[in-house]
Amino acid sequence: MAGARYALAASRAHPPRATISKEPSPGNHLQNEASSRRSSALSFRLVVLVSGSGTNLQALLDAASDDAYGATVVAVGADRDDIEGLARAGRAGVPTFVERVGDHSTREEWDESLAERIAGHRPDLVVSAGFMKILGPRVLAAFPVVNTHPALLPSFPGAHAVRDALAYGVRVTGCTVHLVDAGVDTGPVIAQEAVPVREGDDEESLHERIKTVERGLLVEMVGRMAREGWTTTGRTVRLGTARAAGQAAAARRPAPVAEPAPAQDRTQGTTSGRTTK
Ligand code: GRF
Repeated sequence: MAGARYALAASRAHPPRATISKEPSPGNHLQNEASSRRSSALSFRLVVLVSGSGTNLQALLDAASDDAYGATVVAVGADRDDIEGLARAGRAGVPTFVERVGDHSTREEWDESLAERIAGHRPDLVVSAGFMKILGPRVLAAFPVVNTHPALLPSFPGAHAVRDALAYGVRVTGCTVHLVDAGVDTGPVIAQEAVPVREGDDEESLHERIKTVERGLLVEMVGRMAREGWTTTGRTVRLGTARAAGQAAAARRPAPVAEPAPAQDRTQGTTSGRTTK
């Protein structure tokens, strides 16, 4: 199965994927097309999972239409048919797949099938964007997964976050982008943004305002993960530190006794297991 094993217990570095910068070549249409194809082939690959209207997916598709974003939506998966999220993928020319829990005799079988369908698209990151199923251990062991949740976790986890926040009477709620672990909305937080509750808000009006903020936050965080990489240490997620973490790990390795490192290695930052800047 494709993808790197993801473990929350240990510190883990996810370096960014190389992308080709978009240099316009006026008067050379073919060269521009070829360059754009190469760029998407090398771009950081996203598989997005949806269960409903897919406005978060649309925000990712829109952002990814610019090569500078650094990530491409290579497939969209769902747990049900006939949803607007799948139609959005279809209109964008992105391959889709559906894995219904009810088509499998056990939840474990569904998890395994879903992991295989996702793996077929070789993602660097899976984005759960309004996917209303709890992901199983096979998926979580194979890929890093990011989720967006319409509340300020750890408050109001679960499927009715907006309703629960209103019922509690909070004056401020918001959204959370977080890594997914085996629990329900319990994974390490990447970013959060607050949204005030207004007088007279109902679940629909509040959720719509949260979703406006949520789409921006999700697009920003996924883009940064793709372009900068990230490290996870315990519950702390740091963006843009994959290279630094790699250097720190190299620095902890014992230095070899004799062999001096070749000059070009030194200029790249690491020599004989010691970090140079
Ligand atoms: C989002 O608010 C997400 O956090 C929640 O469901 C909503 C999905 O919206 N789990 P959409 O399908 O992306 O429009």
